[in-house]
This record gives sequence, structure tokens and C-alpha cells, in this order.
Amino acid sequence: MEKKPPSSPQNQFANKAHAWSARFSEPVSDLVKRYTASVGFDQRMAGVDIQGSLAHADMLASIGVISAQDKADIDKGMEQILEEIATGQFTWLLDLEDVHLNIEKRLVELIGDAGKRLHTGRSRNDQVATDIRLWLRIEIDTITDLLRRLRRALAQLALEHTDTIMPGFTHLQVAQPVTFGHHLLAYAEMFARDTERLADCRKRVNRLPLGAAALAGTSYPIDRERVAKTLGFDGVCRNSLDAVSDRDFAIEFCAAAALIMTHISRFSEELVLWMNPRVAFIDLADRFCTGSSIMPQKKNPDVPELARGKTARVNGHLVALLTLMKGQPLAYNKDNQEDKEGLFDSADTVRDTLTIFADMIGGIKVKAEAMRAAALQGFATATDLADYLVKKGVPFRDAHETVARAVRTCEEKGCDLAELKLEELQAFHPGIERDVFAVLTLEGSVAARKHIGGTAPERVRLEARRILDETDLG
Ligand code: ARG
Repeated sequence: MEKKPPSSPQNQFANKAHAWSARFSEPVSDLVKRYTASVGFDQRMAGVDIQGSLAHADMLASIGVISAQDKADIDKGMEQILEEIATGQFTWLLDLEDVHLNIEKRLVELIGDAGKRLHTGRSRNDQVATDIRLWLRIEIDTITDLLRRLRRALAQLALEHTDTIMPGFTHLQVAQPVTFGHHLLAYAEMFARDTERLADCRKRVNRLPLGAAALAGTSYPIDRERVAKTLGFDGVCRNSLDAVSDRDFAIEFCAAAALIMTHISRFSEELVLWMNPRVAFIDLADRFCTGSSIMPQKKNPDVPELARGKTARVNGHLVALLTLMKGQPLAYNKDNQEDKEGLFDSADTVRDTLTIFADMIGGIKVKAEAMRAAALQGFATATDLADYLVKKGVPFRDAHETVARAVRTCEEKGCDLAELKLEELQAFHPGIERDVFAVLTLEGSVAARKHIGGTAPERVRLEARRILDETDLG
């Protein structure tokens, strides 16, 4: 990384260790250089940095601040730099601090004076703010598509399991029967809201800071609308001080990312539980699990566990960015260089996690018999019996009490409500008739909940199909 560039005497900028070094009489120590540099992590923004520079150069040429020839040279030089970066031939120098100065210096090496004119009417402060937004916009679009795929995978599996009955839990105690498809689609809803959040965040990401220069704007007659249009921004930031300094758009993204991971983490918790041999509701494909180096019988659900664990770091990045911002006076402060690693890591973690999960869900083996057996334990249809009595005219609180007594008897006898004889049930309430067994079965219980948002197979089928339509790219 530390190779010295070839020097040419007519090229002053390229020979300096710093772009601003005429002002400085002693070099920084190696440690401080390392401490203050960002090139180690911000070089991944090289593509968008060049994209921003090309748009800026185009605008400078359009208002006559640089010549058409300068612009043509810049275009050509940048093309070569992109090629050098893509092929790994570009030499990144710690001395040049960040991605912006590294690229600018190389441009000057390649094309001379035209390269030196590029930074007219611009500062690294509005440059970096622009780069982050361009970079984040791509990430948001990628993650949005991954959420779509994940929702599709959930809906596909749900459609296969509209009739598979499992116990629904509250307090992790058996509560009422639900269909497995319905349970899966709960996550599809969470990821739908995550998608909306990203779309909303994108609106505020997609505004152009360039033109703010260091903090106060620039004295050149710049055409910011033109740059915005070239770069595909919806508009320009309306205040230069705000444009270079606030990172609220990145914080919003980190909040959206933290919620995505939080949803993933809840799901992971369930997958781990369902993989427990005592529960055994599902089996995950081997490629998402590992064994133990000492216990030969083990198959550990590593991927969901790690996803649950990685949620911690993504949540952490949100808090870090909020904290980074809270003490900063206007306008740009170097603190903001600390915005990148957490932001990058949030996006990377979400991207990898969603990609893996969409694949993993496709490979879930559902053990419907175990689910059903579990639903039959724990008196999951007790509420249905109470509702049945209400329909026969019993006030709900009395019905609740009656069923509680029936459950207690079943507990003593070690049987389910549906296993009691009609006469035994009638002992609890004379209004009970033979039709009670239709509601005491798991199938009767779920089928009755067919309203929008309910767990009935027919409703889940409709919802799964709706989601498949919504997430179909055609
Ligand atoms: N590397 C810096 C960052 O990430 C670029 C902006 C530096 N601006 C400055 N005036 N030092 O924020």
C-alpha cells in the first residue's frame, strides 16, 4: 500500500505528501497518519466518487469554468483509474488519507492540469457526503430486492403449509392452534414494513449535497440542478451547512437495518427452538448447520444463531452513529469520518443475512406431525369451547370459568378436551351438544378464523398468493 508514486517535476500536486502541505512544516507521525486516514475503508466508494467527480466536471464545463478539453481529459483519466481499480493495479496510499485524494492525485498524474482543475468549487466535505449518498442508494436498492426475495420464499413455503397446524404461543405457552403458513406470513409482514421503511429513507438519501463546498457554498455560478439530474438525485440539499454535516440519512438507514435484523433475529430464535430435538418442528438443510467437534450427535443451527448474534452489531452501529452526531456543532467535523465503517458493516451484514435466509427458508423441512402433536397438547382449543358456549347464550366470563374447570379435569385424566365424551362435557354445561366436536378439533379451530388477518387455511392461501403477486417481477 505504501509504494511511492513515480514523481515528475512539473507535477507539484502529485509530489506532495499532502494536498495542503505548503502550510505545514512537519509531517505527521506514522501512527497519526494511520489514525486519521480513511482510505483503508472508504476506497470501496471509489466507483461513486468517480461518478460524482464526472458529474461535477460536466457541470463545470457547462458553465465554462473548465474547458471542454479539460472535461474530456478528466473523463479519459477517470476511465483509466476505474480500470486500474477494477484490475487491482491502483496503488492506494495512506499518505493521501482517503479515497478522494487518492483518486484526485492519480488523475493529476495521468492528465496534469485538467486534473488539478477538477476540485474547483468543491470540497471533500460535499464530495464525501455525496459519495455516501450515492453508495447508500445502491445498497438500499439491493437490500430492497433481497427483502422481496425473502418475502417470496416465505410466501412460497406458506402456500405449501396453509393446512399444516402448529401450536400458536403466547408467553411461549401453547395458546391456540395456528397454521404454519400463517406463522410464516407474520414475518412476511414484518419484512414488508422494512421495505416501506427503506423506501422512505431513500427519499431523504437521494438529495445532492455537492455545491455546498466546504460549508458555505461557492462563488462559482454552479448549476446544482444539473449535477443532481446527472447523478439521479431527486433534488438538492437546500442548506450548505446542513448538506456537508448531517448524517441523519445514514442514521435512518441504520435504524431500518437494525429493524430488519431484529425481525431476522426473532425468526432465528424460532428456528433454533424448532430445531431443538424436543420440539423438532423443522429440519434445516445441512448446509446451514454445523456439527460439534466433540459430540457426534450434534447438528447445530449455526446460521440462525449467528444471525441473532449479528443483530447485536447492527443495533450497535445505530447507537454509534446517533452518538457520533449528537455532539457535533455545524458544519463538517472530522468526527464524521467515523460514520462509514458502521454504515458499511450494517449494509454488508443485512445483505448477507437476507441472501442466506431466502435460500435457507427454501430448504426448510417441515415436520407437520410433530407440529400437530404439539398443538394437541396444552388445550389449544379451550378458547374455542368458550366461544362455543357464548354462541349458546352463555356470557363469556361464565364460559371462561366453565372451560377452565373442564381443562382441569382433562389435566387430571391426562387427556385433551376433544377426547372427553359428550356426556362428560355436558356435565360442565348442559347446553353442549354433539356439534361441539367440530370446534374442539384443531382443524375446526383454525378454519373458523377466516377473516382478514386470521389463521384459516383459506385466508392464508389468499394472503400467500397476494404476496407472491406483489413480489413477482414477471
Ligand atoms: N475522509 C473524510 C471523511 O470521511 C473526507 C472529508 C474530509 N474533509 C476534511 N475537511 N478533512 O469524512
